[in-house]
Amino acid sequence: MNHPVQILDWPCSIKLAMMQLPVKKKHPRRQEPGPPASLEFCVHFPEVVLCLVEKRMGASRKAFLTTLARQRGFCVEDANSERVTHVVSEGNSGDEVVEWLKKKGRHYIDAVADCPALLNISWFTESMSAERPVPIEPRHYLLVTAHAEELEAKCQVAPYACQRRTLLLHSNQALVNKGTECHPGFHHFYLTLLLCLEKQPDTHKKSRRSMEDALQTMAEEAHFNGSEARSLAFSRAASVLKSLPWTVKRVQELHSLPCIGEHSRRIVQEVLEDGASAEVERVQHSERYQAMKLFTKIFGVGVKTASRWYQEGLRTLADLQVHHAKLSKEQQVGLLHYDDLNTPVERSEAEAIGQVVREAVEQCLPGASVTLTGGFRRGKPTGHDVDFLVTHPTEGQEVGLLSKVISWLDKQGCLLYYSSHRNTFLDLEDLELWSSSSSASMMDRFERCFSIFCLGCLPGALQRGAGAQKPSTATWSPGASRSWKAVRVDLVVSPYSQFPFALLGWTGSRNFERDLRRFSKHEKKMALNSHTLYHVEQKIFLTAASEEEIFQLLGLEYIPPEERNA
Ligand code: UTP
Ligand code: MN
Repeated sequence: MNHPVQILDWPCSIKLAMMQLPVKKKHPRRQEPGPPASLEFCVHFPEVVLCLVEKRMGASRKAFLTTLARQRGFCVEDANSERVTHVVSEGNSGDEVVEWLKKKGRHYIDAVADCPALLNISWFTESMSAERPVPIEPRHYLLVTAHAEELEAKCQVAPYACQRRTLLLHSNQALVNKGTECHPGFHHFYLTLLLCLEKQPDTHKKSRRSMEDALQTMAEEAHFNGSEARSLAFSRAASVLKSLPWTVKRVQELHSLPCIGEHSRRIVQEVLEDGASAEVERVQHSERYQAMKLFTKIFGVGVKTASRWYQEGLRTLADLQVHHAKLSKEQQVGLLHYDDLNTPVERSEAEAIGQVVREAVEQCLPGASVTLTGGFRRGKPTGHDVDFLVTHPTEGQEVGLLSKVISWLDKQGCLLYYSSHRNTFLDLEDLELWSSSSSASMMDRFERCFSIFCLGCLPGALQRGAGAQKPSTATWSPGASRSWKAVRVDLVVSPYSQFPFALLGWTGSRNFERDLRRFSKHEKKMALNSHTLYHVEQKIFLTAASEEEIFQLLGLEYIPPEERNA
């Protein structure tokens, strides 16, 4: 049995009982606090820790509601517990609750980060009726007038993404006009909340768009139109929102933040007020955006090609099949494996591929190391591809390694496609190029291979489906049940001395990398790329033995990979 005490006719009995109970007696008898919830009741929602404000509620009503909540599997604690995530009050203003909490010795009340969330009794009542913590909506919040001032005082958001810590799950991810709080560290709670939202009926879903999503769409649209500066502006605004430790609920909160221009502010305002932006919706439904999105998701297709196809009147993948001759070899493979390559790669799949790559590398050059980089190194649970960085502690040993690895993998039947590029680093004669802002200076010159792995055609014990064989183009058919999956894999080989730079460069995120380079250039007069750090004025290359040392050379606080999700 879930609950030691059963209440019949729930939830009406609760409502009735709550109404019948005296709101406040003149001289309430102090009640002994009950035993901790864990001793008497099962805790069903460990991520949610309630605290009821006694002021105006009165001790007896508080005791009654506490028991009620505990019977429903909620954890209820005293005000001064650091574990409290939800503070529930009846008849007090937000400011009064902040004061009450301060008196109770709760020294960390952060109205800015909404930790804990300050809520009125309606959230509690609805949660009791729903028998679970309901998602917090704006109407549940108590108004704290000190909010704006505290924001100004407490939140100095750094202008470069490489100066900020951006976690994968952040406070402005899902919610939108239906604000909610996210307790730092309470990722599990946050995921639960997301799941709750997922369960909302479709009518609600439509209006739930995150501010970040909206801005990313605008960035993408600008990119599709070749307006890189505009695209960057939206992308930076989204990145700033991701780094905030609190959930934005009012557009005024953006006032003191960097990188949020007028247009981004307007979009955020629309999302906050209406749940979605009409402009973003228009973009998303436009024929051009949809076709561009469809085409650029093909492996080997960039904005220029997609745009040309659109101008030629092509709209669908079927249209492309008709004009098959227009496609490069790479694009044909991309089209063939379109669905697989647009299905997120799971971490377990990345790890399975990692084992094969390690085996291949070990066979070709014992002692060489393989490091998983990209989004997976930043802690992402899925990715669009899998990125590996290979090196060997003896400089020079890595030369020629990639072609051997590829041919080993190919012989094993692991590769559906590959295209490799030789190292062009030594061709770079002009040092000045490093300090220029030309795209050539930013391009990687490592020995590198873009490939499409056949997961399920992997050798030996790693094989997923029994008897899986490398599929040929002729035998491939979309939708047919099969035991293999096409997965994009990027293999990069770096000389040992450049490894820390390569690791930093290939870990991403793209926003983080872009700002690292921008910061180096504008704030430090240095040119950073995935090979080295060059001091422009002193005309010297700076060496580093680790990522930490690179941050040090740049005068930046070290940010670990999981906090580089800008
Ligand atoms: P990805 O495009 O693979 O992104 O590049 P990601 O962060 O791993 O995300 P998903 O999950 O695959 O979508 C990884 C990093 O490698 C660097 C970029 O900085 C990027 O952040 N990179 C990528 C380069 O330096 N050069 C390239 O040509 C590609
Ligand atoms: Mn990646």
